[in-house]
Amino acid sequence: MKQKCYKGLTFIPYIESERIRERVAELGSEITSRFEGKNPLLICVLNGAAPFALDLFRSIDTDAEIAFIRLKSYEGMESSGKVKEVLGLTDSIKGRDVIIVEDIIDTGRTMHKLMADLGEMEPASLSVATLLFKPEALKCPEVKPDYVGFEIPVKFIIGYGLDIDGLARNLRDIYVLKDESHK
Ligand code: IMP
Ligand code: MG
Repeated sequence: MKQKCYKGLTFIPYIESERIRERVAELGSEITSRFEGKNPLLICVLNGAAPFALDLFRSIDTDAEIAFIRLKSYEGMESSGKVKEVLGLTDSIKGRDVIIVEDIIDTGRTMHKLMADLGEMEPASLSVATLLFKPEALKCPEVKPDYVGFEIPVKFIIGYGLDIDGLARNLRDIYVLKDESHK
């Protein structure tokens, strides 16, 4: 796992694929016990959450379904705060046990809006699974993820679905932007 360069920036290894795999399996077991005998619906927020959502989905050992939506709020390395509408949800979620699956919760604005929009569609329950969570960046205290892969400090992360301007999503490991301030 060497360092990677994108857009002239250097990223260093942060969470190895094996550690991700183990943690996703743990979350899958938690969800399995919680929803045993039920039929939870995972809603994957594209594009970033795709690798995590598919791995999580396959680690759930009870009947589960998956759907994919888009909702973009991020440009480059700064959260724009702009949140668009939910796109791509074709079937009703009324009465369903819905688990929103995200790659990362940063300010929480995206998740806050998404929970409000999906909440209006009358699911039986609404929970949140996120691979990464930056608690110190959270601006919406109402956002309390139920399943968290890793709590991380306020740093810019790429890999395993997370991108920098569309790049690096295909990395198997997670990398963090190198802090150049101590050079
Ligand atoms: P929030 O609305 O500020 O919580 O931002 C959530 C979205 O911003 C995530 O779904 C990501 O797409 C993006 N994002 C936040 N932090 C990072 C990061 O460190 N790397 C890559 N994307 C990020
Ligand atoms: Mg995202």
